[in-house]
Amino acid sequence: MERSFWDARWSEGQIGFHQGRPNAHLETHLARLGAPGVVFVPLCGKAEDLAYLAAKGHRVIGVEWVDDAVRAFFSEHGLTPTQSAHGKLKRYESGSITIFSGDFFAIRAEHVEGMTAVWDRAALIALPPDVRVKYVAHLRSLVKPKTPGLLITVEYDQSKMGGPPFSVEEKEVRAGYAPNIELLSTEKADGPRFVELVANEKCFSVTF
Ligand SMILES: C[S@@+](CC[C@H](N)C(=O)[O-])C[C@H]1O[C@@H](n2cnc3c(N)ncnc32)[C@H](O)[C@@H]1O
Repeated sequence: MERSFWDARWSEGQIGFHQGRPNAHLETHLARLGAPGVVFVPLCGKAEDLAYLAAKGHRVIGVEWVDDAVRAFFSEHGLTPTQSAHGKLKRYESGSITIFSGDFFAIRAEHVEGMTAVWDRAALIALPPDVRVKYVAHLRSLVKPKTPGLLITVEYDQSKMGGPPFSVEEKEVRAGYAPNIELLSTEKADGPRFVELVANEKCFSVTF
């Protein structure tokens, strides 16, 4: 998607993807991300998961394209972040939470130094197929071998609805994250878009 698409979603308040509470899979499988370390949250929006991970003792590094979403996260948590420029990225930091405002593809290893885990909810599935391939390759370039991650996907009949969220088939996930990937759960997806259209939400544990 173009950046303008996400700018419009946020400015028009069309953020049905925002859960407003920690993701249930994250709560269930938190231990899969390892001992408190540094969790990278690509395409983080203003997810409550950021605060949840920090409350569990992790340092958190997110990246989000829409600056207003980043600002909203901090203001809604009563935080006043420090700001600094990093090339095309703007870095906001408060306590153990850092969010880079800018393009995920501008993130370099130095921005996520010390990363010990990855949390991907509504990041991979926010991207069309051609960008997903680049997303996984870029993520892999940032992550050290053996880094654990949790990934949430959704599968439905793509001919019945356009994304995002995009339907991402398990075989694509397995190809991208081979060989160390484990399906932890499959359940019916909920939310306004999945009332008549049946969709399965899958939670994977991956090791890069
Ligand atoms: C579906 S939302 C999910 C947000 C968050 N993960 C959550 O669970 O609420 C996807 C987010 O990714 C952001 N985004 C899309 N492409 C991006 C990119 N290339 N770099 C950084 N953020 C991006 C969008 O602005 C949007 O806020």
